[in-house]
Amino acid sequence: MKEIYKALEKILPKIQKVSQRSRGIIPYTTIDGRFDDTSKSSICWWTNGFFGGMMWQLYHYTGDEIYRELAIDIEEKLDLNLMIPSGMDHDSGFKWLPTAVIHYKLDGNGKSLDRGLLAAENLAGRFNPQGSFIRAWNDSGDGSRAGTAIIDCMMNLPLLYWASEVTRDPRFSQIATRHADMAMKYFIRDNGSAIHIGIFDPDSGEFIRSDGGQGYGEGSSWTRGQAWALYGFVLSALYTGQEKYLETAKKVADNFILQMTKWEGMGVPIDFDQPEDCVREDSSAAAIAACGLLELGKIDEKYREAALGLLEFLCENRLSLDESEDHLLSNCADSFWSNRSQMTLIYADYFLIEALLKLEGKDLPIFTPKRG
Ligand code: GLY
Repeated sequence: MKEIYKALEKILPKIQKVSQRSRGIIPYTTIDGRFDDTSKSSICWWTNGFFGGMMWQLYHYTGDEIYRELAIDIEEKLDLNLMIPSGMDHDSGFKWLPTAVIHYKLDGNGKSLDRGLLAAENLAGRFNPQGSFIRAWNDSGDGSRAGTAIIDCMMNLPLLYWASEVTRDPRFSQIATRHADMAMKYFIRDNGSAIHIGIFDPDSGEFIRSDGGQGYGEGSSWTRGQAWALYGFVLSALYTGQEKYLETAKKVADNFILQMTKWEGMGVPIDFDQPEDCVREDSSAAAIAACGLLELGKIDEKYREAALGLLEFLCENRLSLDESEDHLLSNCADSFWSNRSQMTLIYADYFLIEALLKLEGKDLPIFTPKRG
């Protein structure tokens, strides 16, 4: 049996200890090996759902009540965010799918349903009919960001697909598919790479230009953006059954696999177009891509093999089993030009756990549709 299939069992004792000492917090990164707490500093931060999601995944896998308690605490803390309009943005899927929505999917909790639907209604309200994009980010009221859309948003569309399922109101999924069609047209290049930011004229809907965003520069391929595109199109394919989304996901995945052949001996770089002598990595991109590839692996074994390669590298080289440190994965990057690049990131850990559970077919459907 390949070592990778034993990784989760090796990680569990550490996560249990880390969870015990993480009651009441919402982690984003670690400082000197210990989680920070955005529940006090930034309750609207886009990553605030991931630790809760990790707790739900582990509750489902182990049945250990502590994980459920921590997840529900975070879901309740996020109610404050729901009441701050300037803190509601395109990332509502990242915040409420791994918290309220999965809680509702598991036990039908009515308050969780309300939270998920409020978040979905807000996300749908960000749709700009001219240009057919869900607006990214907020501004101070000057409209400077009214025309921005980002590839990351593909991962938030499942909140809209889910809302249509539970309300039997097709408007949510209509918005999701219109955004996905827009992203297929403007965000995916002919070679299967994805741009990070697209800028539209919000009045006419005309596509004006792309922007390098968190990647190396304009025209480059920021790897986390590639991973969001890969997994994001897989998800739209799973929710809608539409072949065009599956084909797009495969195109992005094929390019991801091809690009990785140039970076032998290291993990996923922060940007596939960064200088060859730059060895900085983004383990979060690897973990997210692995999740998308494992879903594609259900129809073509070559994608599962690619996912196994990414996960083996992560678990052999970037995984900390040191119980004095709270994080799992090192060598993550928030953006290429950030002075904090090569940090830890909670969503890297979340997607690692989701991927390791997917290997065994035991992942909870947090981003994917409910099974059965
Ligand atoms: N969604 C923002 C990021 O991936 O950094």
